[in-house]
Amino acid sequence: MQIEQKIALITGANKGIGLATARELGKTGWTVLLGARNPDLGHTAESELQAEKFDAHFVELDLNNPQTISLAASKVQREFGRLDVLVNNAGIVDGHDGPPSLASIDAVKRVMRTNFLGTVAVTQTMIRESCNSVLGSVRLGFLSEGRQTGSNSDVSFGPPTVYLGPCLEAYNCMFLTGRL
Ligand SMILES: NC(=O)c1ccc[n+]([C@@H]2O[C@H](COP(=O)([O-])OP(=O)(O)OC[C@H]3O[C@@H](n4cnc5c(N)ncnc54)[C@H](OP(=O)(O)O)[C@@H]3O)[C@@H](O)[C@H]2O)c1
Repeated sequence: MQIEQKIALITGANKGIGLATARELGKTGWTVLLGARNPDLGHTAESELQAEKFDAHFVELDLNNPQTISLAASKVQREFGRLDVLVNNAGIVDGHDGPPSLASIDAVKRVMRTNFLGTVAVTQTMIRESCNSVLGSVRLGFLSEGRQTGSNSDVSFGPPTVYLGPCLEAYNCMFLTGRL
């Protein structure tokens, strides 16, 4: 029986946890698609992982740019034909904003626009345009402030530090219960 190559797309994979996640998936033989908003940084990460003999490919993807999200989904479908896992890792945090209880509404909007609305846009687009071949088995993973969630398991570490964790978890729950 032929085992199909597993493919994961990780947003914000040019550095930090996203790049580390891509590397770990690469070690297990997965094809990793490195989402990055900056093409130079994305290509650098791609070269780094390919030099380590991983099957890694840069995909331009900016959470705040719907066109890049749509083009990324088309590219995944056209060049890889399937998507097994979407790791919603990309996000922003600015220490200057202060804690949620003190952050300005403008700061909250800026963070929510990227971390929540951008993540929802990527997830919806990937499901709609790219994951048709595996819809129903695709796994979603979210990295949020203070919590990690996944569609097949929930792992919590420590209390949520800001408002984003609960928002993403609510969204995740909606997806799991079939309401999205
Ligand atoms: N580090 C922690 O202790 C911690 C704890 C809890 C949760 N988290 C969450 O885990 C995730 C990764 O954390 P990290 O420490 O690895 O963060 P990081 O080093 O700051 O990396 C964030 C990544 O997201 C990308 N990104 C930001 N805005 C984007 C946008 N609009 N479109 C596409 N990509 C965008 C960044 O791209 P650029 O390089 O172009 O900026 C970067 O690749 C974040 O969502 C963070 O909130 C982190």
